[in-house]
Amino acid sequence: MALPSINPTQTKAWTALQQHFNHIQQQHLKDLFKENPNRAEDFTIKWEDFYVDFSKNRIDATTKQLLLQLAEEVKLKEAMQHYFEGERINQTENRAVSHTALRMPETAKVLVDGKNVIPEVYQVKEKIKTFCDEVISGKRTGYTGKTFTNVVNIGIGGSDLGPAMVVESLTFYKNHLNTHFVSNVDGDHFKEVIKNLNPETTLFVIVSKTFTTQETLSNANSIRDWFLQSAPKDAVAKHFIAVSTNIENVQDFGIHPDNIFPMWDWVGGRFSLWSAVGLTIALAVGFEHFDDLLKGAHKMDKHFKHTSFDENIPVLAALLTIWYNNFFNVQTEAVIPYTQYLNQFATYLQQGIMESNGKGVDRNGNKVNYQTGTIIWGEPGTNAQHAFFQLIHQGTKLIPADFIGFAKPLHGNKDHQDKLMSNFFAQTEALMNGKTEAEIRKELEQKGVSKNEIEKLAPFKVFEGNKPTTTFFINQLTPESLGKLIAHYEHKIFVQGIIWNIFSYDQFGVELGKELANNILKEFYNDGAANHDSSTNQLISIYKSKR
Ligand code: F6P
Repeated sequence: MALPSINPTQTKAWTALQQHFNHIQQQHLKDLFKENPNRAEDFTIKWEDFYVDFSKNRIDATTKQLLLQLAEEVKLKEAMQHYFEGERINQTENRAVSHTALRMPETAKVLVDGKNVIPEVYQVKEKIKTFCDEVISGKRTGYTGKTFTNVVNIGIGGSDLGPAMVVESLTFYKNHLNTHFVSNVDGDHFKEVIKNLNPETTLFVIVSKTFTTQETLSNANSIRDWFLQSAPKDAVAKHFIAVSTNIENVQDFGIHPDNIFPMWDWVGGRFSLWSAVGLTIALAVGFEHFDDLLKGAHKMDKHFKHTSFDENIPVLAALLTIWYNNFFNVQTEAVIPYTQYLNQFATYLQQGIMESNGKGVDRNGNKVNYQTGTIIWGEPGTNAQHAFFQLIHQGTKLIPADFIGFAKPLHGNKDHQDKLMSNFFAQTEALMNGKTEAEIRKELEQKGVSKNEIEKLAPFKVFEGNKPTTTFFINQLTPESLGKLIAHYEHKIFVQGIIWNIFSYDQFGVELGKELANNILKEFYNDGAANHDSSTNQLISIYKSKR
């Protein structure tokens, strides 16, 4: 069954939102708080160990009601049924989008093309568990009998970003295995990673859904060559593992059939960390923690699937994106985690959000006449405060931001945690309230600054405020809470795509550059004149003269 295909701008809710926007854009968040003493409570969702506070957004009860009406009018509920029932909602690639099946309990049933996929999911999970237990305990060794000390994940895009982000985020939970990630085709990347590694004690996990990706295969081949400089040929079987849907190509590479972890074409690359693509995660933190990550994601799946839209965290967050993107003409959104562990989180989200919703053609094949796909970026606080916060506070652009903070630190340092959290709360307060010129003048007067000086300085010190933020206040960073958080963003992407009436699960936009690069690569090896524009021709010829 096809997804509903409704132009959001043709809905009644959209017209009403436009009128409503004219009114609300003049309103200051400070005043909205004054008008409604229960605002914080009214716009906060308490769910499990999460407090999600939407109250510092430029919305009121009418905005919420109209956005919810928009969700109804574009038939979000119906679309969700297709998503969760294993239907081929990735219509342009004719595939189901069923990564949520990867975190379901063993007793569940998810039919993809009429077949329950859960038994296969659990077979692979069992294989991951056994393999990880053996490597971590030292039962499984390298070709000289030494236990493994290092794991290198070789993959790119969804076969790198998810595992790399989760391993970094769960550093606190890591065991003795050192994990590394090689992704870029830049030869300096893999060389730097392997330069201090001992082939005898290193395990290589090649992750590629298609097993045709240039970067991954180049890195895998070069690393195998390096490995074989000191190891015998049959040692490859003990040190190289693969995760892929393309079993034939994996075997051609020389990987032992026992060392192949399958995945399925109903799991998109950027949503695949829950499958065997997450093998490096399970190796780094142990299978139990990996499983807790999946359990957390499943809890968010249930919340998303069963909660009414007015209390539904991913639905409300997605609707807010539409509100800012399509009515306030906002271009970007920031994600600011107040924990250093999540320093890869925005990078990870960039693929999920921008590869999914960076589309300009609707589900009927027509060019859209409204904005889609937000640009996502961010860095951990408090570092971000000393880098780009100036622009968010006083620049000309409106940048809604998600602030993610955790009540309990992992290492238990109270002094640092209090400082961190005071910044976490202060920033959203400052962004919302700002500081008026009158307040600035008063403050400067009290400091004894001269009248003349106040005149000169005051305009530059004004903070307009009214900058929207959503606060995710979570008890502690655990595998489970991280799973919930990632799944939240996955569902938010889905809802945005449904409302914008685009296909979120293909990525044709990455193809053209790949094709051209393959052509140019061939040109490096022949002398014929290149047939490009004069700029590209010139650059290629300079490169050829220098390489
Ligand atoms: O960037 C395009 C893309 O197809 C991503 O969607 C995917 O995650 C990545 O390349 C890697 O693909 P593979 O896992 O097949 O090597």
